[in-house]
Amino acid sequence: MSNPPTYTTSQGCPVSDAFATQRIAVDLKGAKYAPPTGPLLLQDFRLIDSLAHFDRERIPERVVHAKGAGAFGFFEVTDDITDICSAKFLNQIGKKTKILTRFSTVGGEKGSADSARDPRGFATKFYTEDGNLDLVYNNTPIFFIRDPTKFPHFIHTQKRNPATNLKDANMFWDYLTNNQESLHQVMYLFSNRGTPASYRKMNGYSGHAYKWYNAKGEWVYVQVHFIANQGVHNFTNEEAGKLAGEDPDFHTMDLYKAIERGDYPSWECYVQTMTLEESKKQPFSVFDLTKVWPHKEFPLRHFGRFTLNENAQNYFAEIEQAAFSPSHTVPGMEPSNDPVLQSRLFSYPDTHRHRLGTNYVSIPVNCPLKANTFAPHIRDGAMSVDGNYGGLPNYAGAYNCPVQYSTHPNSGKPSSSQLDETYTGEVVPFHWEVVDFDYYQPSQFWKVLGRTPGEQAALCHNVAVHVAAADEFIQDRVFEYFSKANPAIGEKIRKEVLVLSPRDDSPSRL
Ligand code: NDP
Ligand code: HEM
Repeated sequence: MSNPPTYTTSQGCPVSDAFATQRIAVDLKGAKYAPPTGPLLLQDFRLIDSLAHFDRERIPERVVHAKGAGAFGFFEVTDDITDICSAKFLNQIGKKTKILTRFSTVGGEKGSADSARDPRGFATKFYTEDGNLDLVYNNTPIFFIRDPTKFPHFIHTQKRNPATNLKDANMFWDYLTNNQESLHQVMYLFSNRGTPASYRKMNGYSGHAYKWYNAKGEWVYVQVHFIANQGVHNFTNEEAGKLAGEDPDFHTMDLYKAIERGDYPSWECYVQTMTLEESKKQPFSVFDLTKVWPHKEFPLRHFGRFTLNENAQNYFAEIEQAAFSPSHTVPGMEPSNDPVLQSRLFSYPDTHRHRLGTNYVSIPVNCPLKANTFAPHIRDGAMSVDGNYGGLPNYAGAYNCPVQYSTHPNSGKPSSSQLDETYTGEVVPFHWEVVDFDYYQPSQFWKVLGRTPGEQAALCHNVAVHVAAADEFIQDRVFEYFSKANPAIGEKIRKEVLVLSPRDDSPSRL
């Protein structure tokens, strides 16, 4: 630094020696190496100021997706899609919007290895003129569950055993084989796409159906796909395992260094659309997160591109404190009735209030930069640091601050479509049972893997080395589970497991 700053306390009081503490009765003249000092003084604010803040440096890590990396960039409209979406940031070809993307693993703690077998989170915040839009996606087009109540149960089985504090192959496979709607996602996870070679070299998918509507209020269901211009590249199970030991932060470093050297990663953005009428003719529910929409019937339509070209200046401030939620949306885009998505709308802001505090929106990275935010009834609370709306009234419609209702510029209708399907019926406790069709897309996925040499074998190998650590009765359930997609899968896994973990009566033991 050419003009280095003077150290101060947190209150700005200059500190003459940053490493000194106030002590009593020091005879500095006598002893050469160990001066006989007296006790410290409680009045030493600069020591207590520093220690007390240090004691509080940690905030709770994310309960899932704790380990991650991110960067800033921009989104650019490439094609006109105003016929299906009236979001302002999409209203002109060439229009650019600042974004922040955070990639993550799901199950591991904040210090866990980047290369772990896991889905990858792919969350992007768009700072639009109508407020912040968060697209909180994964690198897999499907998910493990479709009943939202299962999420905490499922996640617990992928984390540590409460008694041993160890990851537990029995818990892991016990849950999955008892909840077989998971099979499609589990096959994806144990294919080589479960260990991406880089955050830059994987795709992102909305997974859920969302609803987009145009200026006339006409809406369609959509699925969004981000396709990596870097191509999709994966590690083998063994490469990923080796890196976990040798370079656990590999993906974080890879993203950071690529951006530093100007090798900016980018993704093409596509949308699949389905009308309400079409959705009624599908053999699956559009609200079933374990299903994809076949490309042939629902082709991808290009609408944009985004590029990451700027590393964060400060990881904690800008990446750790980033708060994404599927409920942060803009006019033109709405959630569908997918029950998992509906539950997520609640869960994310709820966890932000716990993890970051009630005023998490005031943290600069979460502020709607380009929107004219005006919500003066949302004020006070811990860490109210943005002026707190000064002297403005704390309720809407006050005498000197009349309410202005927002309408769509073309239609004059309310800017949120509020056009929904109509449902009538009794309230029932619904638990989505598994049916034969649930094994159809997994069987198709097995065929897709067959198009590339070695991919089917990799899936079976990757499962076998994991399930070999489970008890025999769980292993047997795993063989049956995969056989539902194709009997060859169960058989290949069984053969390899019996070699890796021979049974008393197996030929390799005799
Ligand atoms: P398609 O043949 O049109 O699509 C297959 C898709 O699978 C590809 O477009 C590609 O999607 C993805 N894929 C290709 N190779 C691999 C691989 N080695 N590992 C993982 N994914 C791969 O058929 P359908 O659309 O009818 O889908 C058939 C099956 O493909 C589905 O059941 C699903 O399991 C899988 N799939 C489908 C997707 C979809 O949205 N329809 C998306 C991804 C997978 P991409 O370009 O997105 O990588
Ligand atoms: C993170 C809940 C399903 C993608 C999180 C977090 C919670 C959570 C509590 C931590 C957020 C934080 O602390 O900031 C849930 C629940 C789900 C669910 C309750 C189902 C009922 C999904 C699905 C996807 C997804 C289906 C993708 C399609 C993500 C991503 C993050 C995340 C990308 C990380 C966001 C970031 O980078 O900060 N989820 N989740 N989740 N979730 Fe989910």
